[in-house]
Amino acid sequence: MKHPSPVEQTRFEPEDMSPPALRRAVLDGLLASPKNLPSAYLYDARGSALFEQICTLPEYYPTRTELAILQTHAGEMAARIGPRAVLVEPGSGAGVKTALLLAQLQQAAAYVPVEISPTALEATVQAMAARFPQLPIHPQQADFTQAFTLPPALRHVGGAGELGGRVVFFFPGSTIGNFDPQQAQALLARWRLLGGADAGLLIGIDLRKDAAVLQAAYDDAQGVTAAFNRNLLVRINREFGADFVPDAFDHLARYDTVQGRIEMHLQSREAQAVHLAGHTLRFDAGETIHTENSYKYALDGFAALAGQAGWQLDAQWTDPLQRFGVLAMRAA
Ligand code: AVJ
Repeated sequence: MKHPSPVEQTRFEPEDMSPPALRRAVLDGLLASPKNLPSAYLYDARGSALFEQICTLPEYYPTRTELAILQTHAGEMAARIGPRAVLVEPGSGAGVKTALLLAQLQQAAAYVPVEISPTALEATVQAMAARFPQLPIHPQQADFTQAFTLPPALRHVGGAGELGGRVVFFFPGSTIGNFDPQQAQALLARWRLLGGADAGLLIGIDLRKDAAVLQAAYDDAQGVTAAFNRNLLVRINREFGADFVPDAFDHLARYDTVQGRIEMHLQSREAQAVHLAGHTLRFDAGETIHTENSYKYALDGFAALAGQAGWQLDAQWTDPLQRFGVLAMRAA
């Protein structure tokens, strides 16, 4: 979720355009009932910058908690992963967590960031190449929520190959929480097949906890999360020529204890009509657009879900308050 620097933004402006599948999902979601938007659409340049700001908020515990777990246990994690690993990272991040892990890995065979945005992918490659000049980097430009392949040069690893290491997927940040459990299971099953018989998975998950803590994390006092949510409407205005008034919608974050998920919504303050791509969208007062789910898991619940996808638990680490978990898994 790295965002391009302002200079790159100007230079690579066409890449800020949404891929056709995402555009279609936006339109479909707004015409559906109840209205919804794909959470992937949150991350344009401004959305990515706002998310990085969220990560530093006092209420938003996940980022700093996971980072502390990695700082404390990266050595043990690297030992579980073993030597000569090919580290595959779906959705290249800000690089800090990945660098922590890579610094501990014994002779990593390669790093494979998988990222849909060419500018974000390039930024990740530059940052990692500067930090680890000896490390072979094989970027894959792909939507990691769809099927993707490993670079041809690496397809022989995962057993008999000369490189000899395991393919290990690194998926920190509780990004898995954005998928509903069935989607999450399908995603993990696909990676299990892609990684082969020795595959590994190191994954961060946000744990179930007191609703008030969760509520505050997704509705912060400074209103950064609200701006992040409303930025969806700013982006739709730009990319679809729509006439949303972002301030005519309230940011809503609510915890569904039954489903174990935080939902973000944008709630229309009053009855209004919005024009977009030849359509007129009508909103009742109080009607919402569902913009994100963020699932929270119990450690054993998540291990069971991953088990259904062909993974077995190797080791797990949490913080002292049990707010966040990092699980090391291997192909069952
Ligand atoms: C990046 C999906 C992990 O769900 O906590 C933060 C996104 N949404 N605040 C999360 C997010 C609102 C975040 N993930």
